[in-house]
Amino acid sequence: MTVVKVAVNGFGTIGKRVAEAVTRQPDMQLIGVSKTRPDYTAVIATKVLGYDLYVPADKVEAFEKAGIRVAGTIEEMVEKADIVVDATPGGKGAEYKKLYVEKGKPAIFQGGEDADVADVSFSTLCNYTEALGKRYIRVVSCNTTGLLRAICTLRREFGVRSVRATIVRRAADPKEVKRGPVNAIVPNPAKLPSHHGLDVKTVVPDLDIITAAVVVPTTLMHVHVVYARLARSVTREEVERAFEEAPRIILVDEALGFKSTADIIEAARDLGRRRYDVPELVIWRESITVNGDEVIWMQAVHQESIVVPENIDAIRAALRLADKPEDTIRVTDETLGLKKFL
Ligand SMILES: NC(=O)c1ccc[n+]([C@@H]2O[C@H](COP(=O)([O-])OP(=O)(O)OC[C@H]3O[C@@H](n4cnc5c(N)ncnc54)[C@H](OP(=O)(O)O)[C@@H]3O)[C@@H](O)[C@H]2O)c1
Repeated sequence: MTVVKVAVNGFGTIGKRVAEAVTRQPDMQLIGVSKTRPDYTAVIATKVLGYDLYVPADKVEAFEKAGIRVAGTIEEMVEKADIVVDATPGGKGAEYKKLYVEKGKPAIFQGGEDADVADVSFSTLCNYTEALGKRYIRVVSCNTTGLLRAICTLRREFGVRSVRATIVRRAADPKEVKRGPVNAIVPNPAKLPSHHGLDVKTVVPDLDIITAAVVVPTTLMHVHVVYARLARSVTREEVERAFEEAPRIILVDEALGFKSTADIIEAARDLGRRRYDVPELVIWRESITVNGDEVIWMQAVHQESIVVPENIDAIRAALRLADKPEDTIRVTDETLGLKKFL
């Protein structure tokens, strides 16, 4: 089996999770991760996890002064890799692209980058084959990934004519202290549509979709209320079965105590999930409502982890390690323990 060398540039919320997911893949080797600040995360990466850590050339001394072992510069890390997953803050990836191009390395970018950073915007259940062999792939944002998992499942089963969705966004990730709101609900923005539907269209250009978003004071998950008009009339059972059988989607029951995002996260904690991650899209079973060709449901998105499986699939697509979506989905989902919820 070919084993490809993967570097993860940026070891934050997304980067640390993608790095760990890479270590679980039989066809991938994690050759290093990068950071700019010599903080406790850098100590964990090197001393606890045993990763090789690469830093900007002008920061080597600061890391060494802090007693953190450095394997080399970010340029050297990129040089050694077969492919780079760029998980630097939004906008930085576009700057790093120059380095990836210069070193002749393919790269996976995140949703914080503009779509034109890559050859294709990507979501496994929608357009895996379109990304095959592409040098630069952008995994869309957490909200977009959540919308696309459900929409592309319904598209495949029944066809989708239009989607309208309201997105209730978490204010910050749990580790962030400078973001808000703390005590308000903020239209994001008030002028419609929000950018999320436009981002969905970077993957499914022909979809009629309009989204609105508000930001609320929570750190746990996003929640979407979605209205879709399908290409034909369906029954509630058909829709429930389609979601139930789809990869990376789980249904939870309000009747079983899943009354909020806090309950989903609590279950993930009780199940011993690493970092209480829930990379699956979570749909409340009771919310699924069908009226002829119209379907309504509510779904929750764990922003910190939902894009991790898609990053792993994007590596396989770029390097043609799997030609069919089902082949990468099988390995990714098995190694990451997906759909083993309740
Ligand atoms: N968090 C989410 O909910 C989420 C969900 C989906 C997609 N995304 C997208 O994923 C990307 C990363 O977001 P994130 O939330 O993971 O960010 P983050 O937690 O702030 O992590 C960014 C990482 O990049 C490193 N970094 C900063 N500047 C760098 C530079 N010049 N060179 C190399 N590394 C640098 C940081 O290292 P230091 O700490 O050492 O500076 C940090 O490890 C963004 O495009 C974002 O939009 C985020």
